[in-house]
Amino acid sequence: MARLEKECFAQDAWPWWDLIGVLTFRGNVSLKAVKADQMIGFVAGDLKQAEHTGWIVTLGVAAAYRRQGVASTLLEICERRMARPRICLCVRRTNQAAIALYTKAGYQQTSVWRSYYHDGEDALVFEKMLKNRGED
Ligand SMILES: CC(C)(COP(=O)(O)OP(=O)(O)OC[C@H]1O[C@@H](n2cnc3c(N)ncnc32)[C@H](O)[C@@H]1OP(=O)(O)O)[C@@H](O)C(=O)NCCC(=O)NCCS
Repeated sequence: MARLEKECFAQDAWPWWDLIGVLTFRGNVSLKAVKADQMIGFVAGDLKQAEHTGWIVTLGVAAAYRRQGVASTLLEICERRMARPRICLCVRRTNQAAIALYTKAGYQQTSVWRSYYHDGEDALVFEKMLKNRGED
C-alpha cells in the first residue's frame, strides 16, 4: 500500500500511519484491487464528516494497470458501499487524468480551494449526487 501510494502520489503521498488510519477506521470504506497477489489499486471513502456526504479521500492505480477501468470500478463500488446521497472529492487543478475520470463518472466541479496543496496548487472540489443509492 505504501509503495503504491508513493508511486501514485509522489509529493502528496501520505505517511504510513495516516494510511493505516484511513484503511482501518471503522467509519471508512476502503477497497483494493489485486492482480497476481499484488495490490494494483486502492480507494478510500470517509463517512464521518457529514451525515449526507461521503468523501473520496484517496484513489490510485499502479501505472502499469492504468486505462483498464480499475479506478472507475473501484470508485463505483466505493460510492455504492458509502451509500450516501452526495459524494465529494478534491483533486489538483493540473491532474488531467483524475479530472477526466471523475467527469466521466458523473462528478461536477462545485468550488475551488485556493492554494490547498503544500506547493500552492489549487484543489478543485467535485461532487456527485447519487439518488436512491442509500437504499440499494
Ligand atoms: C487517475 C487514476 C486513478 C486513473 O486510474 P485508471 O485506472 O487509469 O482510470 P480508468 O481506466 O478507470 O479510466 C476511466 C476514464 O478516466 C479517463 N482517464 C483516465 N486516465 C486518463 C488519462 N491519463 N488521460 C485522459 N483521460 C483519462 C478516461 O476517460 C478513462 O476512460 P477511457 O480509458 O475509456 O478513455 C490514475 O491515473 C492514478 O492512479 N493516478 C495517480 C493518482 C491520482 O492522481 N489519483 C487521483 C487523485 S484525486
